[in-house]
Amino acid sequence: MTIYIVNGPNLNLLGIRDPKIYGNLDLKTLEESLIQYGKTKNITVQCFSSNHEGDLINWIHDSHFKNTDGLIINPGALTHYSYAIRDAIEAVKTPVVEVHLSDIYKRKETFRHTSVIKAVCHASFMGEQLKSYQKAIDYLLNLTI
Ligand code: DQA
Repeated sequence: MTIYIVNGPNLNLLGIRDPKIYGNLDLKTLEESLIQYGKTKNITVQCFSSNHEGDLINWIHDSHFKNTDGLIINPGALTHYSYAIRDAIEAVKTPVVEVHLSDIYKRKETFRHTSVIKAVCHASFMGEQLKSYQKAIDYLLNLTI
């Protein structure tokens, strides 16, 4: 079983960026820990990250053409307004799960309270930093069993 994990804009700044909200782990450590977590469950986890919307869309398409078993995406701020990412998720057959480190619905900025991808994702996990991603992996594992 192979899962893609895709992180969007500014998530490469994890560890530096507002640690009270996003935690102390940097992106490399977060990704390595998810790869390890996957190994304990016999899942191959492949991590991708970019600050560019088009890259995220290409990885969503790629997951379809490579018959990936699932894709976990944290699109960063693109969550709140990217209809292009929404359409890509809707178009592919890959089951996609939305993830956020913080709980977007409890954040003080109201623009974060909207997710334009939620409706086209199989599930959403948020507010638990690394654990949000682990829960998404578990969800996809249960989906394919
Ligand atoms: C985020 C929440 C978004 O509102 C924000 O723009 C991010 C990170 C999260 O993981 O909590 O970049 O997706």
